[in-house]
Amino acid sequence: MQPIGIFDSGIGGLTVARAVARALPEHSIIYYGDTAHLPYGEKSPALIRRYATQITKELIRLGCGSIVVACNSASSNALDAIREVAGPDVPVIDAVHPVIDAVANRFPSGEIGVIGTRATIDSNWYQRLLEAKGFDVVSKATPLLASAIEEGFHGGEVSDALIAAYFEDDLFKGAQALILGCTHYPLVADQIAASLPKTVALVDSADAAAEALRNALAPVDSADEGTVGPRTERFMVSDLTDSFSLGAERFYGAPVQLEEHKLPSVIS
Ligand code: DGL
Repeated sequence: MQPIGIFDSGIGGLTVARAVARALPEHSIIYYGDTAHLPYGEKSPALIRRYATQITKELIRLGCGSIVVACNSASSNALDAIREVAGPDVPVIDAVHPVIDAVANRFPSGEIGVIGTRATIDSNWYQRLLEAKGFDVVSKATPLLASAIEEGFHGGEVSDALIAAYFEDDLFKGAQALILGCTHYPLVADQIAASLPKTVALVDSADAAAEALRNALAPVDSADEGTVGPRTERFMVSDLTDSFSLGAERFYGAPVQLEEHKLPSVIS
């Protein structure tokens, strides 16, 4: 079985990798965190597309047979380009469509909130897809949250203060659900929930993306039966620092050995 390629701008996408490893425990994983270029949330769509397509090419060159875009900023701005370089035989699962399908299955209509990076919210991608399903949408960019979480500031005063500042307008108080439209946000889900009325359900991308991948791979897996080798995990970053090494385990929920792996063809 070919490994699953998973990528994000940094280590936040490890929340998705963790859900994938749980949903598909027999599959090998190659994770790529583009730590040299984060935050994607502050980059232009053109630059996000350039980074995301180069990583996709590299994951396929390394043997991956499927791609999970574990980054909402890349999913919202680069999905067509990623699919184009992946080609028709490589399933590509993004962070946005599966969570919208999960929301649509659970809530037939009404108001849905979305928070994410600037690149995600400014793309209007969530808003358009949710409105196409008949939802009213309230959205807000919360750009400092991902960087604070990546730095280890979650579960404490710094993230509490950021959440209080971003949510003080009560924008989401009438929503039935709030989509955590950034793969870093599950680490502050409890703090966000505490600042919202109990009537607002929180939904994140990780489990929905893992489930979508499992469905996409089911036919491939049954054709591959009997060819299962030992499962391996490889975690690569484009720039390795101690802080990423320390943070990775928090996101993945298990020990992670990061290795630096440059993409020579990317012009930054
Ligand atoms: N993990 C990225 C996302 O889901 C956000 C972090 C960044 O801005 O690079 O959008």
